[in-house]
Amino acid sequence: MSESTHNLVAAAKEAARTAYAPYSVFHVGAALLFDDGAVVQAANVENASYGLSLCAEANAVARAMTEGRRGGLVAVAIAGGKPDSEGNPVLGPEPVMPCGRCRQMLHELAALGGTDPEVIGVAQDGLTRLPLSALLPHAFGPANLA
Ligand code: THU
Repeated sequence: MSESTHNLVAAAKEAARTAYAPYSVFHVGAALLFDDGAVVQAANVENASYGLSLCAEANAVARAMTEGRRGGLVAVAIAGGKPDSEGNPVLGPEPVMPCGRCRQMLHELAALGGTDPEVIGVAQDGLTRLPLSALLPHAFGPANLA
């Protein structure tokens, strides 16, 4: 694993520690890597009205875009699990990969800069690494409305 991948995975795990997920008790962290080296982290935020809960990846995209970012997305790491007694996510045998809505939100940010970011799902024994275009083929995006 390269140092930048290692750091991005660590950033996703760290972000999961800030999850607000009292209902599912499933803490997810996402870390977005940009072409200037910046990393934007976020976690899932749930709501007593369960359906309003926000995923870590969606919050990370919103955070990056409200910082003014419009593209430059190189990679995304996601890590999630039930928290242990110290608040760290206990990773499962399968990685957490972005849900459908989050794939679409990641695509919007990526498409603005014309990149196809690597999506890195973190499991207990390794990583699943796929381009976003493989997770969301034939995506609808800003170009369709141009
Ligand atoms: N969740 C994420 O944050 N990202 C994903 O990719 C999958 C699911 C969150 C939503 C909810 O707060 C909890 O995980 C359980 O579904």
